[in-house]
Amino acid sequence: MTANQSLTDMRLTAIRFAARDTNLYEFRRPDGASLPGIEPGAHIDIHLPNGMMRQYSLVTAEGDSSTYVVGIKRDRASRGGSRYVHEYLGVAEILKIGGPRNHFPLKEDAAHSVLIAGGIGITPIWSMAQRLHKLGRSFELHYACRTRDEGVFLQDLQALPQAKVHVDAEAGGFLDVAPIIANAPTGSHFYCCGPLPMLAGFESATKDLPAGQVHVEYFTAREEAATEGGYVVELRKSGLEFAIPEGRTILQVLRDAGVDTPYSCEEGVCGACEIQVVSGEVDHRDNILTETERKASKTIMICCSGSKSARLVLDL
Ligand code: FES
Repeated sequence: MTANQSLTDMRLTAIRFAARDTNLYEFRRPDGASLPGIEPGAHIDIHLPNGMMRQYSLVTAEGDSSTYVVGIKRDRASRGGSRYVHEYLGVAEILKIGGPRNHFPLKEDAAHSVLIAGGIGITPIWSMAQRLHKLGRSFELHYACRTRDEGVFLQDLQALPQAKVHVDAEAGGFLDVAPIIANAPTGSHFYCCGPLPMLAGFESATKDLPAGQVHVEYFTAREEAATEGGYVVELRKSGLEFAIPEGRTILQVLRDAGVDTPYSCEEGVCGACEIQVVSGEVDHRDNILTETERKASKTIMICCSGSKSARLVLDL
């Protein structure tokens, strides 16, 4: 995981149509300077003028080093993130951008990589495909969209021999990821980003593979937040203690008490609220940490995870 938490003023320099309900948003620094390098799979934090902060995957890790481009689909259930972007953001506006950060890194030297994406989940996967293509590595890409007019980068994908496009409406159903995984060469690395049913199918089909070969990016929560309460959180640096009651998350209690700590999605998918754990047994509910990282329990996402022990000490 890489981190660059400082914020940069960036100008929205172009909005381009990508597919129905999806636009590409291009950002540059006002002085035109180069930007920190991008790893495939990385995302940036966009601080919106309405006070929200949202993470969006970068579309490309190649080419112009003075731009960041993200693909944003207008989510019909939007709580103000993608809806605000589509309705109110205009070219020339200056926004604060954090990152890039990467919770979905690509293992570039794998013998073979299998990239699977659904819908707007193509954005980090497309970045990975471009890198693997540039490096001349062996890979295959499977992209599913509901209808052809909702498909993002369809022309580019159709020009890429390693890519296969599945249109649900034309195929008469969803893409079945199980045979793709079963037929891949032994030792392949598998990546998936897409809607929850696709991710569930992917996790089921890869459950017997070594965890290090399986890589997933979630946009929405997969587990309920831990709100059982009944434990105490101690902040080591400030010496403050908080009883976490039933129905509340650690983040909510800290915010109510005026403790200034970063957060964004409040769904366990962005990593903005990650804090080092000093002691205690974490009840992990996020979508970011791997099983190995959960067992090591060195960090916690306080927006959704709780504590199995009576006391949890955080490095805050
Ligand atoms: S705020 Fe996004 S993971 Fe906690």
